[in-house]
Amino acid sequence: MRIVAVANQKGGVGKTTTAVNLAAGLVQTGKRVLLVDLDPQANASTGLGQVGNTASSIYHVLLGELPLCAVLHAVSPAGLFLAPSSPDLAGAEVEIYPRADREQHLKRALAEASGFDYVLIDCPPALNMLTINALVAANRVLIPMQCEYYALEGLTQLLNTVRRVRAQLNPHLEVDGLLRTMFDNRNRLSSEVGQELERHFPDKLYQTVIPRNIRLAEAPSFGRAALEYDPSCAGSLAYQGLAKEFLQREGPK
Ligand SMILES: Nc1ncnc2c1ncn2[C@@H]1O[C@H](COP(=O)(O)OP(=O)(O)OP(=O)(O)O)[C@@H](O)[C@H]1O
Ligand SMILES: [Mg+2]
Repeated sequence: MRIVAVANQKGGVGKTTTAVNLAAGLVQTGKRVLLVDLDPQANASTGLGQVGNTASSIYHVLLGELPLCAVLHAVSPAGLFLAPSSPDLAGAEVEIYPRADREQHLKRALAEASGFDYVLIDCPPALNMLTINALVAANRVLIPMQCEYYALEGLTQLLNTVRRVRAQLNPHLEVDGLLRTMFDNRNRLSSEVGQELERHFPDKLYQTVIPRNIRLAEAPSFGRAALEYDPSCAGSLAYQGLAKEFLQREGPK
């Protein structure tokens, strides 16, 4: 079972859209996927039609009140399972912080997960204790990036955090890749930052580029992954391409 954290402390860069549609893309190739919504905003949960279940969410699992299996929902497409978030998760940070094993809660919870090929974790837009829990639980981190002026600054900070987590808490953590999202090749800055990423991270940068596409933004309001809502739109095709490239990077098992 591979565990992939989808992380970037910058807000609104396409983490949730990527987590949901990569998960759906992997499911369409026959993989069994668990999507963990680790963001108190719960965008991945509502985007997959699961609204605010405050009684059983990943919050309760993190605090050890419920086993992981008690909060899983089978969602569409078939083969995709969701561990939903709830607004309570905002408080989890404070609640687990005093504990000695505060970085290990998600790792422990996911040790109970079985029958999945991949676990994707949708992280909140912060380098907080929730994101650290995701980085400690994960084998790899996938970093969606919007190609704009401040993107590279944030990236340095994130990569430093990944290095620190690897050194102190999780030697298995690797950067899976950097993904250009909301890309508009008519925008000169977008293209320039995209090329800069190609120069600096030739091995880590995904060839697949996610274009700016309104269908990707519409899909969550229908409670569905874009790959299901409109499988043939440019955004869905790009995420299908991402799933393929993601699996190619895995190599033969
Ligand atoms: N490729 C795209 N084209 C157009 N709109 C997009 C695209 N990707 C994401 N969006 C929209 O941009 C907004 C931010 O995307 P998303 O929620 O995936 O980012 P995020 O990094 O998860 O945000 P947050 O940091 O708040 O969790 C959303 O409204 C989403 O629907
Ligand atoms: Mg999000």
